[in-house]
Amino acid sequence: MADIGVLGGSGFYSFLADARRVEVSTPFGPPSEPPVVGEVAGRSVAFIPRHGADHRFPPHRVNYRANLWALRALGVRQVLAPCAVGSLRPSLTPGTFLVPDQYVDRTWGRPQTVYDDAAVHTSAADPYCPVGRATIIATGNVVPSGTMVVINGPRFSTRAESLWHAAQGWSVVGMTGAPEAALARELGLCYTSLAVVTDHDAGFQQGEGVTEAEVYKVFAESIDRLKSLLTQVIPRLPSSTTDCTCHHAVESTDAGRRDEVV
Ligand code: ADE
Repeated sequence: MADIGVLGGSGFYSFLADARRVEVSTPFGPPSEPPVVGEVAGRSVAFIPRHGADHRFPPHRVNYRANLWALRALGVRQVLAPCAVGSLRPSLTPGTFLVPDQYVDRTWGRPQTVYDDAAVHTSAADPYCPVGRATIIATGNVVPSGTMVVINGPRFSTRAESLWHAAQGWSVVGMTGAPEAALARELGLCYTSLAVVTDHDAGFQQGEGVTEAEVYKVFAESIDRLKSLLTQVIPRLPSSTTDCTCHHAVESTDAGRRDEVV
């Protein structure tokens, strides 16, 4: 069992001490990989590489529901979700870590709920865990807020799309942050995104704009810093028995109240 979950790139496999693979079945089919459970700074952590160990799932094919369900089934209550993003502002340079406080979901065709047979409407006003965000902000050298627009991909934005995203005042652009955050909330999980800037998005780029090679290169260069930050954050997260508003997201919906009555 684990109380903290990490969804990230396959570079995180080496992050966990005494790791063991755990098979978990979910109502939504298999997760991207069986979770690996191990220890980080004395805490029990479950890790799933979102895109699969061999990067076979593009952002629109990741089984976000199964990944989060599998973590929940292992006892996880807090999820840390690093992801690669492009920058929409000249001041956010590659290598910057940013803790988003908002997102805009421009994805389509991805299952948006774990409740297919009940009308459950969770609040998304403040979509991330306040405790997880505060812990990262207090621990690391990070930009403490920003809006992440999530595009469907797998292609990057056109220059016009990128300039439009920037003109909205949004900070960074990624492909995996939604509906992951919303599904985590439906499952009563604390969810904290940590965006790693790998490039300036097309609006700022000359030439061919952002390339996949650039994104992978900068993410790989950032992975040691990212693992070091998470190693400091994890022991500072509250214990699994500490209550958080995120844990009650569904209880406060009509469906949740009906469940309480039944
Ligand atoms: N992930 C990393 N860089 C990105 C970009 N420029 N657009 C969308 N997703 C990204």
